Amino acid sequence: MPRIEFRRFGPDDLQQVFLWLLRPHVVRGYAPAPDSFMEMVAKFGPRTRDDNAVRAFMFCVDGHDAGYIQAYDVAAFDDYAAMTGAGAGTTCIDFFIGEDADLGRGLAGRVIDRFLNEVVFADPAVQACIAGPGEGNKEAIRALEKAGFRRWKMVRIKEGQEAECVMRRDRDVQGLRIAPVVTGVLALSTARRAFARAAQRTI
Ligand SMILES: CC(C)(COP(=O)(O)OP(=O)(O)OC[C@H]1O[C@@H](n2cnc3c(N)ncnc32)[C@H](O)[C@@H]1OP(=O)(O)O)[C@@H](O)C(=O)NCCC(=O)NCCS
Repeated sequence: MPRIEFRRFGPDDLQQVFLWLLRPHVVRGYAPAPDSFMEMVAKFGPRTRDDNAVRAFMFCVDGHDAGYIQAYDVAAFDDYAAMTGAGAGTTCIDFFIGEDADLGRGLAGRVIDRFLNEVVFADPAVQACIAGPGEGNKEAIRALEKAGFRRWKMVRIKEGQEAECVMRRDRDVQGLRIAPVVTGVLALSTARRAFARAAQRTI
């Protein structure tokens, strides 16, 4: 069982996260690559502070930095709250595994489950957690399912872009009860990757 730990995202992590944001799988599933380090610092720098609406964390696996995960109250982002119809007490998470060597090891489901139990639901005001992978992002959807999320609704952030498959886990649900499925399709098709790239939000 891998040892998973979280620590608050700090100024010393900006360079590492910048490098991860350039990795093809992160660009595909998480967000378009930043044009420059300055642009990335302008967006992520404020997330190193406690007063920011986005609470950001690094996660470590067996002692090494493996990825980034963030959480925010959906109500703090009016447009997204309206689009999802998420009620009060709903937190949204976004995440990625940074290191290629950590992909495909079944880590994401464990990281997400631990993050919900240790961080998100540690706040008694939080009743539900959602995440919005692009509908073609099968790895993320499956990882969320393994962490106890269920498909909730489809939301199209922008006309012409891929819809988000908004997934939801309520407070009293436990993750990691689903046995792995055997699938012959382990790679996204080129078309799906292009589709996924168009789907990303900017929070
Ligand atoms: C999404 C991400 C976190 C998954 O991390 P991971 O630890 O490599 O995922 P896992 O090893 O648990 O694999 C995910 C599951 O998806 C399955 N999977 C992979 N490709 C698939 C496909 N094309 N169709 C169906 N299932 C697929 C895997 O088989 C695995 O399920 P299993 O354990 O039941 O066999 C990682 O790929 C990542 O960081 N991607 C970029 C950022 C991103 O997409 N973030 C999500 C934003 S909401």
